[in-house]
Amino acid sequence: MGEIISFYRSDNQMMNDAIDRVVVEIYKKKRQSGDRTFLMTGCSSGCGTTTNAINLSIALSVAGWKTVLLDCDLRKGAKYKRLSENIRIGLGDYLSTAERELQLDDIIYPTNYPTLDYIPCGHSSGSPITLFCTVKMEQLIDELEKEYDYILLDFPSINAVSDADILIPRVDDTILVLGFGMTSKKQLTEAKRKVEEFPDKYIGLLINRVEFAQYRNAIRDYDYFRQANLKKRYKRQMKGRVKGRVKKAGKVPKVKKAKKVKKEKK
Ligand SMILES: Nc1ncnc2c1ncn2[C@@H]1O[C@H](COP(=O)(O)OP(=O)(O)OP(=O)(O)O)[C@@H](O)[C@H]1O
Ligand SMILES: [Mg+2]
Repeated sequence: MGEIISFYRSDNQMMNDAIDRVVVEIYKKKRQSGDRTFLMTGCSSGCGTTTNAINLSIALSVAGWKTVLLDCDLRKGAKYKRLSENIRIGLGDYLSTAERELQLDDIIYPTNYPTLDYIPCGHSSGSPITLFCTVKMEQLIDELEKEYDYILLDFPSINAVSDADILIPRVDDTILVLGFGMTSKKQLTEAKRKVEEFPDKYIGLLINRVEFAQYRNAIRDYDYFRQANLKKRYKRQMKGRVKGRVKKAGKVPKVKKAKKVKKEKK
């Protein structure tokens, strides 16, 4: 333990804007119904669930909320993970070892964001489906809910494996992730069918891998508050005001007349 996990926030302005919109939805759910546990799963493998779970957890923690991200993809070995390739103990170890062998604190790692903690996947013997069905998993979420404002669970695609299916009834809300141009209509329909078995828990579809032009078309006034655009608009407004004042004072017509007189003389 003691190791600090480094999280890096995306420097893509469009992605951060989109994540902020998800933060708003999550915040509203918290305010409306006290929801704090959010499960994220993809409609297809590799569509961007983990990337968005990381960015979302950073955004929530930057806003000051005490947040924990759980890597619930127990099937991929730790060496294939972006955040935890060197970490030995994690969720899998905790769920597969006997009571008292591992404490919850042993698998919670601090990150470079003061209010963000991380639980890596670790190693497990046995089927993840069996591990997620255990009382221990339910108790783990109960404990985290006492400690954290937000708990994000990052699962593999719901169409690839049934792991997420097991936890949907337990969490407060589910977010589906779709890879634009990557996830087929059939995969989306199938994923939605599974998630909507608990309709009040499905809060929406996060569309990943959208091109900038498409995002701009979808989100009206996306550029409205950009500094450069604000400056341009401000300059235009100021010009208009000055012109208005000049016109009122009657100076503009005089200048025009003087020019005309010169032309007539020629
Ligand atoms: N919006 C994006 N633009 C470009 N690349 C992306 C985007 N989102 C994710 N990726 C890249 O796609 C790859 C897969 O992303 P990620 O691991 O987040 O997907 P996943 O749905 O969690 O995959 P898995 O099903 O294996 O869990 C990564 O290399 C990631 O950097
Ligand atoms: Mg993933």
